[in-house]
Amino acid sequence: MTTLFIRSGTVVSSTGVAPMDVLVDGETIAALYAPGAAQSQGITADRDIDATGKYVIPGGVDVHTHMEMPFGGTFASDTFETGTTAAAWGGTTTIIDFAIQHAGERVQDMLAEWHAKAAGNCAIDYGFHQIIGGVDDESLKAMDELVAHEGVTSFKLFMAYPGVLLSDDGAILRAMQRARDIGATIMMHAENGMAIDVLIAQRLSLGQTDPVYHSLSRPSPLEGEATHRACVLASVAGNVPLYIVHMSASEALEAVASARHQGANVFAETCPQYLYFTIEETLAQPDFEGAKWVCSPPVRSGHAHHQSDLWKGLRTNELAVVSTDHCPFCFKERRELGLGNFARIPNGLGGVEHRMDLIYQGVVAGQLSLERWVETCSVTPARMFGLYPRKGAIAPGSDADIVIYDPAAAHTLSAETHHMAIDYSAWEGTSVAGSVATVISRGSVIVEGKRYVGRKGHGRFQKRGLCQYLT
Ligand code: URP
Ligand code: ZN
Ligand code: ZN
Repeated sequence: MTTLFIRSGTVVSSTGVAPMDVLVDGETIAALYAPGAAQSQGITADRDIDATGKYVIPGGVDVHTHMEMPFGGTFASDTFETGTTAAAWGGTTTIIDFAIQHAGERVQDMLAEWHAKAAGNCAIDYGFHQIIGGVDDESLKAMDELVAHEGVTSFKLFMAYPGVLLSDDGAILRAMQRARDIGATIMMHAENGMAIDVLIAQRLSLGQTDPVYHSLSRPSPLEGEATHRACVLASVAGNVPLYIVHMSASEALEAVASARHQGANVFAETCPQYLYFTIEETLAQPDFEGAKWVCSPPVRSGHAHHQSDLWKGLRTNELAVVSTDHCPFCFKERRELGLGNFARIPNGLGGVEHRMDLIYQGVVAGQLSLERWVETCSVTPARMFGLYPRKGAIAPGSDADIVIYDPAAAHTLSAETHHMAIDYSAWEGTSVAGSVATVISRGSVIVEGKRYVGRKGHGRFQKRGLCQYLT
């Protein structure tokens, strides 16, 4: 077994920042030493890594990705191989992707399909959530099996996309009751899809077909309303753990904050696109350029205060996690499906490579502490989805998933240099302070010195336990 000794770095955890040396033995962390500690003298490792001037953080855990997702008449363009390799470049060492079941499909078969896509192809470790697009007796029974035997302990439901993935309130309540019985978490895409479909049809009938109307037909109160409704249903189901995904709007944050203040097991994530992009700067660009930023919920107006509220929510833990909702569609041929009709643009953005950098900019700007950066991007995602302390911790016994981050470096995000399989960057030209220097996944160095030295198939499926935030 190979040993690594990471010397002279500054270890950042959710609870503090301290100079520490880290010894890795095989796939796990063996010990942490204060600099110059007597016990660390004379340690000879197979490899010494000098982390002077750098942060040593638990590898990023991105709990919301969609590699190869079939959606909107096409497929997300990153495979498990390309997407997890890009994630590694950006300092993410674990993803949780979504297996998808539509009405009429057998949940276990669909999970097997996603296993087949991922197995042997991933550069980093991975797990699965299960999307239930058709709630019925069979899929409810399948939830038991996935929790008990498959290490899949969270189930995403949709209040959006009527006729494709939407579950009505009765179906949602049934799935929540089942989740409550087995300790599972319900993840919710909270937008009022029925009302949105009416608004979309009205826009199109007025000839308002440009990408900007994607956002204007999904107004933020409809995200707030659906989020509130999901919280009420979760309460009626018996305080089932509810995790609101990809939150974009102040109204939704208010609903989550209010439920949490009442003691509910309600949690939420946001994504970098909602913290940084505005309609005015993205979707409203002329000549179909805006199509590059179509995702749901949509990017919101900079004239409102969604972004400042989301940052505040991250500071106060009303928002617990930052994920990417990585779901890339190339501009050529894929986005272009929506030329002349914004409703046909496949929804989703590519960003799995940039999350650690983009949220670190929040540290640079004084929006978040260093500890909170690590907490929202590594520690809490691991605890929320039953992976901690195997993942999300720099501690003896934890998997040696470690990122050495150089705060003195800088770089610019661009399609020319990114590693995601997408022909443009939603983040084109964004200057970033700080940069990933070295990435270690289960004790193997996979990125160093601006080179990817990992391999497909290194990543292993991770069975997960239940949410670790429940009383
Ligand atoms: O636009 C998005 N978010 N695409 C991915 C699918 C989803 O709803 O998460
Ligand atoms: Zn969603
Ligand atoms: Zn998603």
